[in-house]
Amino acid sequence: MKETAENLRLMREFGIDEGISEIILSSRNDPEKDQTEPESNCLFNAAPIGIIWKNDKMFLRLFPGTQTYENLMREEYFSANITTDSVLYANATFYDLDADEFSTLNFSGTIVPVLKNADRYVVFRCVNRLQTSETLIIDIEPIGFKVQTKKSGFLVNRGFSSIIEICVHLTRYEQTKDPKYIELIKHHWSLAQRCGRKRDKEALSILKKRLAGFEDEI
Ligand SMILES: Cc1cc2nc3c(=O)[nH]c(=O)nc-3n(C[C@H](O)[C@H](O)[C@H](O)COP(=O)(O)O)c2cc1C
Repeated sequence: MKETAENLRLMREFGIDEGISEIILSSRNDPEKDQTEPESNCLFNAAPIGIIWKNDKMFLRLFPGTQTYENLMREEYFSANITTDSVLYANATFYDLDADEFSTLNFSGTIVPVLKNADRYVVFRCVNRLQTSETLIIDIEPIGFKVQTKKSGFLVNRGFSSIIEICVHLTRYEQTKDPKYIELIKHHWSLAQRCGRKRDKEALSILKKRLAGFEDEI
């Protein structure tokens, strides 16, 4: 389904554009699951995911084995949180966020989590799912837009971009153990140190702890 011109305009205004835009996707965990289990002690999940915009259509490509995949097989709505906070990216990629980092919206009785500290968010509805053995493609449509901070414009900072790259390469390294990702991480590490903001350096400390788990392999 092609998006309306008004929705395309709003998406651009919010920072989601053609190609792949990286956002932090928040979705509701299964409310039926025992929330006292250590693995599921929060009602909500957040993870960086790319929104793909091609020929004026929007979709997600999800790889199996993640909480986001499991949640969006079931949930109708999710929010795309737009932020330039590196620490939020690093934590959402590798750890569970605290419950108090989320607030909630109520869409006709359905709870949709959003991130309190995102600059802006867009609420999407999942309109169609195509599941293969390798991926889940979900066609999505925007249904709500909200600005939460006074920040305007979009950041171009190589340090921030490098934090995003490190999160991606480290995710892939954890899955494949391919040493090529370590080389890429090293490259982006020095860029983040050279060009990054204070918050990007804080994200590096979080990522350093995660990398420490692989000391023997690096
Ligand atoms: C910038 C960035 C973009 C990502 N985009 C996707 C994506 O489009 N699809 C996907 O399945 N995983 C993507 N990932 C990987 C997931 O965020 C990662 O597997 C995460 O640990 C999943 O967390 P969850 O289990 O809480 O859902 C991306 C990671 C990063 C850092």
